[in-house]
Order: sequence, then C-alpha cells, then structure tokens
Amino acid sequence: MSLVVLVGLQWGDEGKGKVCHLLSSWADWIVRYQGGNNAGHTVVFDDKKYVLHLIPSGILYPGKKCIIGNGVVVDPVALVEEIDFLRKRKIKITDRLYISLNCHLIFPYHKYMDAFREKLKTKIGTTKRGIGPSYGDKFARVGIRMVDYMEDDTFEKLLSSNLKEKAVFIRKFQSPESLKKQIMKERARVLPRIRNFVADTALMLDSRIKKKRNILFEGAQGAMLDCDFGTYPFVTSSNPVSGGACTGCGVPPVMINTVVGVTKAYTTRVGLGPFPTEIKGAFGESLRKKGDEYGATTGRPRRVGWLDIVQLRMAIRINGATKVALTKIDVLDELKEIKICTGYKYGSGLLRDFPYSRKILQEVIPVYEVLPGWCSGTRGITSFGKLPANARRFVRRIEELCGVKMILISMGRAKKETIYIEKKFLPND
Ligand code: GDP
Ligand code: IMO
Ligand code: MG
Repeated sequence: MSLVVLVGLQWGDEGKGKVCHLLSSWADWIVRYQGGNNAGHTVVFDDKKYVLHLIPSGILYPGKKCIIGNGVVVDPVALVEEIDFLRKRKIKITDRLYISLNCHLIFPYHKYMDAFREKLKTKIGTTKRGIGPSYGDKFARVGIRMVDYMEDDTFEKLLSSNLKEKAVFIRKFQSPESLKKQIMKERARVLPRIRNFVADTALMLDSRIKKKRNILFEGAQGAMLDCDFGTYPFVTSSNPVSGGACTGCGVPPVMINTVVGVTKAYTTRVGLGPFPTEIKGAFGESLRKKGDEYGATTGRPRRVGWLDIVQLRMAIRINGATKVALTKIDVLDELKEIKICTGYKYGSGLLRDFPYSRKILQEVIPVYEVLPGWCSGTRGITSFGKLPANARRFVRRIEELCGVKMILISMGRAKKETIYIEKKFLPND
C-alpha cells in the first residue's frame, strides 16, 4: 500500500495530466485535493485527446476509482457538464467517482466577483471560474458546502444570506432576486445528477488505506501558483503543494510515501505576474508555437521562458519531491543552444534561493548556463541511452543542480512518447 502525491513544480500546465495517466496503472484510487475547474489536464490515449478540469484524470483509466476531495471547490454546473462529457465518450462514472460532502461550491456570484476584480487595476489574470471568491467564502466561514447544498432548508438559508451580503457585487450583473431563482432552478436540475456521487471521502480513504490500496493524489496548478509559496498575489487561492493533499483529503501526512514532481524542460505561465526567465519577442513566440502553448482551460497563450533552477529547487524543496518527471523536451529538439537559469543577479549580489519580495522578483536578472542543444528529433526514442548525448547531458545537469532523480522523460503527448529512466519508481510497484 502506498500514497503518492503528483505535483506541478512550475506555474501549472507541466503535463501533470499525461504523467497522472502513466502513473494511474499503478494506482487503485486517484484523488484531486485542491483547485477546481481552473485546472485543465490533458490526456491523450488511443489517439484521442481529453481535457479534464474537475474530475481526476484517473477516470480515463478503465477500472480506476476517483475522488474529488474536500479541498476542491466544485462548480456544480461545471461538474455535471464534465460528467456528461465523459458519458458521451462512453466512460463509465457510476461506482467510480466520489465527491466529498465537505467540498465548497462555486456559484454564479463567485464568478461575478472574480470577473469584477479582473476589471480592476489589481487584477491577477485569473481563469474567471470563481475559484478565489469561493475559497474566500470558505475561509470567511460563509461558504456553502456540498452537504449544505443537499439539504433544502440549510441551502436556502445560506444562499439568501450570501446573496444579501454580496448584493452590491451581484447588482452589477443581475438582480439578487433573479439570481436566487436561477440558482434554485440550477440546483433542481443538477442535484439529482450528482447526489449519488457524494460521500464522506475522508472516511472512504481511511478504509482504502487500511485495505492497503495504492492511492495517487493528482495535484492541480503548481508550486509557483501556491497561495503560500508562489508568486503572490499572482497565484491561485489554494495549496497545490504536496502538503495540500493532507488537508485537502483528510489524509495524515505520515501516510504519504512519495512525492513526484512534474516539470517541463522549459517554463511557462498563463496570467500575470513575475516570470524572471521569460523569453520575449520572436524567439519566445517560436518556442510557444513549437510547444503548442495555449492554456487548456482558458485558451490564452502561455508565456514561455527558460528552465529556472532557482525556482525549481524551491518547488522541489517545498514539496519534498524526490522523483521528477521531465516533460516536453521535444520542444527544445531543434535549438542549437539551451539555457538554464542557475541564479538571479540582484544589485551586486547573486541569489540562489527564490525571493518572496515582489520588488526583488521584478528586478532580478537571470544568470544562465548555456548548454549545447542536440539538434535532432527525440520523438520515437524509447530508452535513455538512445537519446542524443547532449539531451542526456541536459537531463543529468538538471538532476545535478536540483539534487533529484528523473524517473521519466516525456517527448510527446502520447503515452508511448515516454522514456522511463527508473523502472520501479513507485513504492511496492
Ligand atoms: P497539466 O495542466 O499539467 O496537466 O498540463 P496541460 O494539459 O494543461 O498542458 C500540457 C500540454 O502539453 C498538453 O497539451 C499535453 O498534451 C502536452 N504535453 C504533455 N507532455 C508533452 C510532451 O512531452 N511533449 C509535447 N510536445 N507535449 C506534451
Ligand atoms: P493546471 O492544473 C496554469 C492560473 C491562472 C491565474 C492564476 C489564478 O492545468 O496546471 P485562478 O482562476 O486559479 O484564481 O487564477 O492561476 N492558473 C493556472 N495556470 N494551469 C492551471 O492549472 C491553472 N489554474 C490556475 O491563469 O494566473
Ligand atoms: Mg493545465
């Protein structure tokens, strides 16, 4: 029995969906512990592309069971849409998906608040899915949980007080009275569709742990979007780091065996905020095109930059990631030179540790180590030894600088476009 947490080590979109699918063969249960439908996890198999936002990617793996843990914020309408999306593709959900009673929900007024704040000067560049306002309500103790949604009286009371409290915001979009009617109508439609999936998932997990099942926690977003450790305020409103798996599912930290981090061979971020190694201009644009870099949720172009070891080392440390999956090395295939950032110049000093100050982050100048490229295609290569020597050197150098072992290298979207370096990297595999 083992519990493995899979996390993004950058600003999200590292390829967690693909890696999760690869690791799902080992797992009995796949669990989301934070975020909501701001995530977009792409899985390509049988030549078909699936993008999942809320339901764990493990649902695509026949026979695996999935949980949406209490730390996730759930938009009930989006949830039903995703269930329908999967059912249309003949993916069985019944007896395979469980949603925590304690999940906080997202309502249209959360999306209004998100959209409203995105119009202000202080905008973050969010996905406008209402994620931040829903978590805000949770911690302000006015949120509405799944368990409350399921009880007629409790729900109506809580909804009314929320509509009253947020009336100033709501009125910018519609009248609170008509919004109440809309939400009640939506509830009448969606509740019968989701009721049977709702369960005490923390209790379920405890019993599966006692039965010695293998459990994979699928992180959304990434360390640099973590509300505590990321590039605040340009972060998401949850804890994507591995520690979030404990509070986000009700699983004690001592039970976690391994943390697997996922990083791209370069860096991307969607939305606003500091990005020290960002490549601007035509070269950045060409890399973005090669990587087909558009956000899987919003369709916005991703900003592209060189791999940042200062950032990566911090993400590895905070997560306790001992194993790393390196994705998208194919995007670098044609480059003559590849840069990796090993330090930040700040004033007359050199920073090796990621700074938290907004001012410092805006002003640092990345210091690069330049490695020779491999100038040949990596797709189709199936063993580490067959990779071009410079590609192997690139991988080994990252391992050396970060003090971790790569477990696999991905050079394409498909499952088969993967090299396993360490065959048995999961406990009890
Ligand atoms: P996630 O949010 O971490 O699951 O990542 P996304 O699905 O948002 O973004 C990753 C994108 O890169 C998706 O379109 C994947 O299909 C694609 N992808 C994943 N691994 C590779 C790879 O090794 N090479 C290439 N070219 N694309 C990849
Ligand atoms: P996956 O799981 C990349 C970013 C948004 C924005 C910031 C806050 O696919 O890696 P939010 O709507 O969460 O309040 O937006 O976080 N963001 C992501 N960027 N991948 C994601 O998820 C993201 N989820 C949120 O672009 O900058
Ligand atoms: Mg994504």
